Amino acid sequence: EKGGWSSFMAKEISEEPEAVAKTILGRVEDGLVRIPELAGLDDDTMRAIDRIIIIACGTAAYAGMVGKYAIEQWARVPVDVELAHEFRYREPVLSPNTLVVSISQSGETMDTLMAVKYAREQGARTLSICNTQGATIPRESDAIVYTHAGPEVAVASTKAFVAQITATYLFGLQLGQVRGTLTPEAARELVAELQSVPEKLTDVLANGERIRELAGWMADTRSVLFLGRHVGYPVALEGALKLKELAYIHAEGFAAGELKHGPIALIEPGQVVFVIVPSPRDENSLHAKVVSNIQEIRARGARVIAIAEAGDVAVLPHADEVIRIPLASRFFEPLLAVVPLHIFGMELAAAKGLDVDQPRNLAKSVTVE
Ligand code: F6R
Repeated sequence: EKGGWSSFMAKEISEEPEAVAKTILGRVEDGLVRIPELAGLDDDTMRAIDRIIIIACGTAAYAGMVGKYAIEQWARVPVDVELAHEFRYREPVLSPNTLVVSISQSGETMDTLMAVKYAREQGARTLSICNTQGATIPRESDAIVYTHAGPEVAVASTKAFVAQITATYLFGLQLGQVRGTLTPEAARELVAELQSVPEKLTDVLANGERIRELAGWMADTRSVLFLGRHVGYPVALEGALKLKELAYIHAEGFAAGELKHGPIALIEPGQVVFVIVPSPRDENSLHAKVVSNIQEIRARGARVIAIAEAGDVAVLPHADEVIRIPLASRFFEPLLAVVPLHIFGMELAAAKGLDVDQPRNLAKSVTVE
């Protein structure tokens, strides 16, 4: 039940900290990741994996994109992310050392299920990251890592998304530990930071007032763009998807580096652009590049809402609004930065008088191809 919340979606966003915490629970031992359910994939098998393909649809695919960056970094295995419906019909190249990781909240998405079955028939190993106990996709897979976000009722996925990222991170960390690409010290540091995310998420939720206000004023907005880089790029895609499905507003997410290759032509006075700003402490200086993107679009009259780390003063003179998130190293930012976007999509839909739990034309689980 909604338990005093205005919608299931509002309740489920409030449960994002818990979704991350519960997904970590029971999977860390002595500061390192040990997922009991992965016992079926023994260490030799884990070491033999030479390629990972993540298959999913919609929001789950964006969680997979975030996971790709982390798994490649930590375990040094090449990772591709494929939309399940595209994967299935193009005769992908698979081998017994390919691990196909499906991500699905419902575990019943037909496109994803068909892709998993196809991968198995072709001799690949399959791992299911799923939020629904006993669903069809986990039953059809060699190994299962459940996300423990709890039942998600609202059609738009929110708490499942952060739980999916958490599960791919746990998997990537364990893989890195087993393969020796992460030293125990490095792994412990990352695990500790992952464990600190729920508390930071609680802070983000407690500071949701400004983003709610902004959404409340924007009921007449016709188009919103989202920019991000690195793990902020899938977060941009997720922000755009939420706005389309909930508020029926044209929205697009871009990799910020792509701007000059085309999308900047869309920028005209008044265009609202969300920018997910990497930490100024980022070692690849992506921060400076994104701030310069903000200057470019601002010079063309865009209204910029930046999502930036607390204490990032460099962004202040350039953005119209700055939504603050707590300090986190690069891989943990998406878990925090996505929450204001979830709130924004929900509040903008509510400001338009729409049903946020049941957007038009959509079903919670898509059981047809
Ligand atoms: C978006 C959304 C959908 C689902 C997608 C996959 O908010 O909910 O894009 O993420 O249909 O569903 P699952 O995860 O059940 O396979």
